[in-house]
Amino acid sequence: MQAIMQKYQNKVDVALIKYLTQGREYPAVIYRAMRYSVFAGGKRLRPILALLAAKACGVPERRAMPAACALEMIHTYSLIHDDLPAMDDDDLRRGKPTSHKKFGEAIAILAGDALLTKAFETVLCARVEPQLAVEAASEIARASGVSGMVGGQALDMESGGKRLGKKELDILHSKKTGALITASLVSGAILAGADTVQRRLFRNFGGKLGLAFQITDDILDVTGNEKQMGKRLRKDKSSGKNTYPAIYGLKESRKKAEQLVVEARAILGKIKGDISGLEQVAQFVLDRYR
Ligand code: IPE
Ligand code: IPE
Ligand code: MG
Ligand code: MG
Ligand code: MG
Repeated sequence: MQAIMQKYQNKVDVALIKYLTQGREYPAVIYRAMRYSVFAGGKRLRPILALLAAKACGVPERRAMPAACALEMIHTYSLIHDDLPAMDDDDLRRGKPTSHKKFGEAIAILAGDALLTKAFETVLCARVEPQLAVEAASEIARASGVSGMVGGQALDMESGGKRLGKKELDILHSKKTGALITASLVSGAILAGADTVQRRLFRNFGGKLGLAFQITDDILDVTGNEKQMGKRLRKDKSSGKNTYPAIYGLKESRKKAEQLVVEARAILGKIKGDISGLEQVAQFVLDRYR
């Protein structure tokens, strides 16, 4: 798994450098801030899912690269804003000082805004059939905005210090994290020319995997190693966050994540094509320590 991830991370980084380097960079600080967070050492999970979805559809992975890079830009923007003092107020991300610590709050907010906007420029300028670019962009827009990640983040902020019910907790996690993970698979499949049946399978697979991913993030906040994770841990409890361990306990949370990955793999089995990479990623979501 380590080797597969490394291989894809390298490919994604080459493409991201291309999209995030411009001829005349003025004012330089905003370009620096964008690249600082994007190249701080993320796992690149979302781009890898987009590329592997294209592979499973039987086309060269690079077809999905514009969506892959757009997703990493949006994910990075969500992290920059998530770390702001007004939100989770964190000083460490991807093993480095957070954007607002390094550049100040104003530039951090703008770097997030710029990455979000650049993501849509990237997908919509993809050299594919225009219809596919539009469909991929719509998919990513819905998942990033108020019906997806932003909505989930709003619920996360709103519900701090209050105890959500189990149904609401799943909605929170599926929106704030699951939506973008699902969109990674679906937009990769769209650029690969997948039909509606295939798209639905990726959507269902992503829903399970995305929820499992946030559950393991919650678990790692309790059990993980700060150095390996590259961010502050053991903050969710004192911040009154609605997490899986807070509501179900650690043991039950692990069981839930395992069950979701079993269900995800069952859906994956219905996808005709090379799904071996996606199977490994599903396992990684459970076994990860970073
Ligand atoms: C962290 O995401 C934030 C969540 C949505 C849980 P990742 O764990 O994918 O972070 P990076 O991209 O590797 O830094
Ligand atoms: C953040 O969830 C999800 C996002 C949409 C950024 P967390 O707040 O739990 O993510 P970490 O733990 O700071 O990475
Ligand atoms: Mg948060
Ligand atoms: Mg956070
Ligand atoms: Mg967390």
